[in-house]
Amino acid sequence: MKPSEGKMKSEEVVLDVDGLRMRYGTNDVLQDVTFQARHGEVLALLGPNGAGKTTTIEILEGFRMRSAGRVTVLGADPAHGAEQWRARVGVVLQSWRDHGKWRVRELLAHLGLYYACYATELIQRPWDADDLVAAVGLTEHANKEIKMLSGGQRRRLDVAIGLVGRPELLFLDEPTAGFDPEARREFHDLVHSLAEKEETTILLTTHDLNETEKLADRILILNGGRIIADGTAEELAQRIVGEDEVRWTRDGQHFVQSTNTSTKFVSDLFKEYGETIADLEVRRSSLEDTYLSLVHRAESGQNAIAEAKDVERMTR
Ligand SMILES: Nc1ncnc2c1ncn2[C@@H]1O[C@H](COP(=O)(O)OP(=O)(O)OP(=O)(O)O)[C@@H](O)[C@H]1O
Ligand SMILES: [Mg+2]
Repeated sequence: MKPSEGKMKSEEVVLDVDGLRMRYGTNDVLQDVTFQARHGEVLALLGPNGAGKTTTIEILEGFRMRSAGRVTVLGADPAHGAEQWRARVGVVLQSWRDHGKWRVRELLAHLGLYYACYATELIQRPWDADDLVAAVGLTEHANKEIKMLSGGQRRRLDVAIGLVGRPELLFLDEPTAGFDPEARREFHDLVHSLAEKEETTILLTTHDLNETEKLADRILILNGGRIIADGTAEELAQRIVGEDEVRWTRDGQHFVQSTNTSTKFVSDLFKEYGETIADLEVRRSSLEDTYLSLVHRAESGQNAIAEAKDVERMTR
């Protein structure tokens, strides 16, 4: 859901992360991660392999102890989240432990039992197993043993497991890895409906930038242990200078111009040359251009700092 299409979001802060640090041995993976999520927002957490996305998500889920920093998730510190708190949080891990011998519907019904006592007047828990199986497109496979599922079907089940308690806050770590295009489209519809109808707050990681553009209200880019960008796709694109490319032909000649004021540029072009302009094309920078540019910029900044430190060390 894009902000322009969505309804007004409540201002309630559901996720509040301030100065989060994580060190594995001597490896400082997260150095200072700071961001917030508001009720009903869909946030995409992007970043290169090894940036620390899974680490961040696992800390917010309460599966991993942080080294330092302040983290509040649905009003509680996930390191000390009670069962009642846990029942409000849904989790789809990057890789899930196995339940191979269970059958799809049977497992969802079984896991659902755990949530029944956490139902409220507003939120019916758990999600009915048959409805849930249908929502993730597994009806045909409802009675199959889990070890017989294909990779993509297995991943759909992972998503169903994350949803069975009708979570208010949902963490999805690369939920669509291995999905075929149809499953991906259906999953996107499911996320839209969760965000719109149930006002579920969602934090997802993905390496698919088309998916990010379709789903995310806001994008966070994690690199070098920090959030280096936080905003809508449009806001991030504005940080890249000269982002649009205008192409046209005139009198049989081809022209290309980079500009960050393409509307004015095109208007001026027509004022000057009128109908002699043909084959006009304006190419906006894609999220991929923006993402790569922001990550390269951050990495060259980090390299510059590292090199300066090396020089300092050598001249000491
Ligand atoms: N249990 C662990 N012990 C030591 N190092 C770890 C552990 N888990 C992760 N790491 C390291 O922390 C860094 C971040 O890993 P993480 O899995 O959080 O990255 P990611 O952003 O999710 O990457 P990907 O896009 O590949 O899923 C990596 O360098 C990884 O090797
Ligand atoms: Mg990961």
